[in-house]
Amino acid sequence: MTNFVHSEALRTAWYPVARIDDIGEQPFAVRLLGDDLVIWRGPTGDLIVAPDRCPHREAPLSIGKVSNGELACAYHGWGFGADGKCVSVPSSGPDAAIPPTAHLPCMQVQQKYGLVWVCPGEPAADIPTIAQDDDPAFRRLNTEVEPWATSAPRMVDNFLDISHFPWVHTGTFGSAQDPDVPKLDLKQLDDDFYGYAYDVDAANPDEGAASSGSTDAIVHRSMSTGFFLPLIVRSTIRYDDGLEHILLLCSTPIDDLNTLFTFVVWRNDDHSIDPEEILQFDRAIGAEDKAMLERVPGTLPLSRTGVVNVQSDKPSVEWRRRFAELTGLG
Ligand code: FES
Ligand code: CO
Repeated sequence: MTNFVHSEALRTAWYPVARIDDIGEQPFAVRLLGDDLVIWRGPTGDLIVAPDRCPHREAPLSIGKVSNGELACAYHGWGFGADGKCVSVPSSGPDAAIPPTAHLPCMQVQQKYGLVWVCPGEPAADIPTIAQDDDPAFRRLNTEVEPWATSAPRMVDNFLDISHFPWVHTGTFGSAQDPDVPKLDLKQLDDDFYGYAYDVDAANPDEGAASSGSTDAIVHRSMSTGFFLPLIVRSTIRYDDGLEHILLLCSTPIDDLNTLFTFVVWRNDDHSIDPEEILQFDRAIGAEDKAMLERVPGTLPLSRTGVVNVQSDKPSVEWRRRFAELTGLG
């Protein structure tokens, strides 16, 4: 089995670990690339992300309490403030010097697209640009961050794969799709995403499920799907009437075999459809993928010979080649 979570290169990427709205008053615990982290809002309202381990006797800081932005460890009450600095050691009295090693080694954090993004190391690149986020014609819809009991590489492989649609997505949009996948040409889609475009006739969620509760309407759509290394996939669906539905599919490794999944939607619709109705359909598609992937054991083999590939696997094979090169795990 390939262990990828300890790859140094993966520590230089940004990962969404929570929705901004998930971070409340009290500390929030999350596991990223095999490491437990704590997130809280510091005294200035900025997010602080640090290892979920008190430097004193290693209690999880996430079971501590925050007041006025200061996190007090639940074990002996050491207090941590802005930038994770230790600001109080109650047992030493108010005037004692704080040991320099008592400060928390914080990680970089950004709030973007409604999500909290963490980079455990020195970022090699920024969060990918979704140009429509600044376009007033588009609205953005966020969804929950959900753990999937499967590895992140299997998820990316799945999100780049069209050939499973008529088999896995029969309950949503896949029933009408021809299982014969057209030859796919890979290209740079824009500055940040590399992938492919194709046309498909599929059951249409927007005029089917959303308005009448039926998915029978078959509608032509142009799609383009691409990846941003290491583990982000974007899929854009364009309907003939000009409607665009963009999905950012984020797979954040908890560890080698577990992943946090969230997706963000941008749409240039007239806002007449209730967001919940739109998301419900995309959630149902995700649930179909999750049910399949959680039945597949282990992580995706990263060597060229570990699994059999055919023509329709070309996009995921290219992603896997680059992921293996990046992580040195080919
Ligand atoms: Fe945190 Fe002692 S373990 S203060
Ligand atoms: Co799928």
